[in-house]
Amino acid sequence: MTETPEIAQKGPYPVDVEEGKNYFWCACGRSKNQPFCDGSHKGTEFSPVKYTAEASKKVFFCGCKHTAKAPLCDGAHNKL
Ligand code: FES
Repeated sequence: MTETPEIAQKGPYPVDVEEGKNYFWCACGRSKNQPFCDGSHKGTEFSPVKYTAEASKKVFFCGCKHTAKAPLCDGAHNKL
């Protein structure tokens, strides 16, 4: 069975990440703390995707949850 994630927003969330820090991207789309996990995936088949920043820079986390390059935006939101 494959559940469809909720679309938190039809566009990415720009975030200034810090080198070496871990981030947990919300995959289910239910988190109130987008684009990050707040535990709301409980009871769904989704679990958060860990992202370790390789450098301190701005990255674009997928907000539509339909990216094929989770946790980052790949432009899939343009086709929703
Ligand atoms: S926000 Fe999901 S692919 Fe861009």
